[in-house]
Amino acid sequence: MDTKKWRMDTSLIHTGQEPCQKTGAVVSAVVPAVAYAFTDAEAAAAVVAGEKEGIYYGRYGNPTIAALEAKIAVLENGEAALGVSSGMAAISGALLAFLKQGDHVICTRDVYGGSYKFLTSLAPRYGIAVDFADCTDLAAVEQAIRPDTRVLYLETPSNPCLTILDIERLSELAHAHGLTVIVDNTFMTPYLQKPLELGADVVVHSATKYLNGHGDVIAGFIVGKREAIQFMRKHIMGDLGQNLNAWDAFLILRGLKTLGLRMRQHCQSAEQIARYLEAHPAIERIYYPGLSSHPQHELAKRQMSGMGGIVSFEVKGGAQAAKSFINALRLAMISFSLGDPETLVQHPASMTHFSIPPEEREAFQITEGLIRLSTGLEDVSDIIEDLEQALRPLVSTVKAGS
Ligand SMILES: Cc1ncc(COP(=O)(O)O)c(C=O)c1O
Repeated sequence: MDTKKWRMDTSLIHTGQEPCQKTGAVVSAVVPAVAYAFTDAEAAAAVVAGEKEGIYYGRYGNPTIAALEAKIAVLENGEAALGVSSGMAAISGALLAFLKQGDHVICTRDVYGGSYKFLTSLAPRYGIAVDFADCTDLAAVEQAIRPDTRVLYLETPSNPCLTILDIERLSELAHAHGLTVIVDNTFMTPYLQKPLELGADVVVHSATKYLNGHGDVIAGFIVGKREAIQFMRKHIMGDLGQNLNAWDAFLILRGLKTLGLRMRQHCQSAEQIARYLEAHPAIERIYYPGLSSHPQHELAKRQMSGMGGIVSFEVKGGAQAAKSFINALRLAMISFSLGDPETLVQHPASMTHFSIPPEEREAFQITEGLIRLSTGLEDVSDIIEDLEQALRPLVSTVKAGS
């Protein structure tokens, strides 16, 4: 089938999936096999040596996962993709593929807490150094580049403050210095942003979030050049045992069919929620790239085809107010994840970004009053009514204090 002419919503359903030649089944079968039989010893040796394409052992790949990888590569417009066991397996795997002992990486400042933790605790044990730079400022990034810098690691929009980074200009700068650019595209998905088309070298995903979209799978993807992906499959994912499994790949293939529908709804509802919160007297600050008050609103409009489903905001009154607000919610659930059908809220300073020391958290704008809300697919009026009833007691406190 010619997949090139398909638009995104069609590609999400058809790419990499054809009816079964034997039974005509429209939905692909799950192949749980770990081992694959060869006609002779030479054929087996050729596959393991990489001289011939083929699947030989479940830790290095599987036909169900291969169909999903082919789809993700097309969606991101990359040469190849690798499905792994989690978003963190994708992030650590991609970083380890391009870094070795004695190398230095520059990372954007407010980054997912797990990525921060990997770069500041595990990577240094293997001789890899990191500096965090304000990547909204190209001069600051250029200043942070050292002779041993090999990678620029970006996340845009960032978790949790939704900072937008200019992938195109940062990639130009990084490439002029010989660096590899890795972008975490979890918040956007290829439906809303395609970093490889903007000049990045590698895209990583937590497929646990929007790509699967139903809160029942932990998975990750790395997308990039075929040679780099082959290296990661054999020498990183394979050696560290970070492989995805066939059942989860099947669930992601199923979830992806509705990615377009889901993302459009997430974006529409998030924008309504952001506008509601922006006008609310109990809210100190709001972060949503779709608002004209967002500092990188113009860049967001150029770089992204939708503003995403995450809204972050600071309530007046700090940690105490933030916690009593989320405790008062009845529909939205307090949870560490995002990108699910359910509206999920969390307090980054004490939950997802707890591993970042308090002084650094403040410097990254992750204050004690900050809340991250992942807009679900419920009726947006119900979500807003829930927010309203939980914010009401804060308004009285704010008034009493002023
Ligand atoms: C932006 C981002 N990247 C990566 C991850 C890690 O994903 P996983 O939990 O699938 O390892 C997360 C998790 O919340 C995330 O928010």
